Amino acid sequence: MRKVMILNGPNLDQLGTREADLYGTLTLAEIANMCNATAAALDFEVDFRQSNDEATLIGWLHEAAKSELPVIMNPAAFTHYSIAIRDAAAMLTAPLIEVHISNPIAREEFRHTSFISGIAKGTISGFGANSYLLALSALAQL
Ligand code: DQA
Repeated sequence: MRKVMILNGPNLDQLGTREADLYGTLTLAEIANMCNATAAALDFEVDFRQSNDEATLIGWLHEAAKSELPVIMNPAAFTHYSIAIRDAAAMLTAPLIEVHISNPIAREEFRHTSFISGIAKGTISGFGANSYLLALSALAQL
């Protein structure tokens, strides 16, 4: 079975109650369950993780790079300012897909910049939790 790491950045552990008008009411655990079900149908095994800590996310990206694993990542706010996350993600050899629950381009101007998009295979934004499932499907077809 092929493996994929799904990484989630800061405040995504608060989904369910966090700004539900923007992010919906599903918890991150529920999104993880949805990813597991979709991945199983696509013959992928998911390693689903979340951290509020930049260094932890960087460590996980190093791990994925060493293991040559593809990564689906919602870097959350780090998207818009973390060169360190970008540099770690640039070391990946398997595809990286950037996902967002909301559509950052339709929101405040400071969210229009992504430090990740330029090194990602592609970005899927604005489809709620389905952004993750669409990313899995895109990965399966690469
Ligand atoms: C987000 C969009 C980011 O701008 C924001 O900082 C997040 C969540 C999304 O999934 O829509 O935390 O990545």
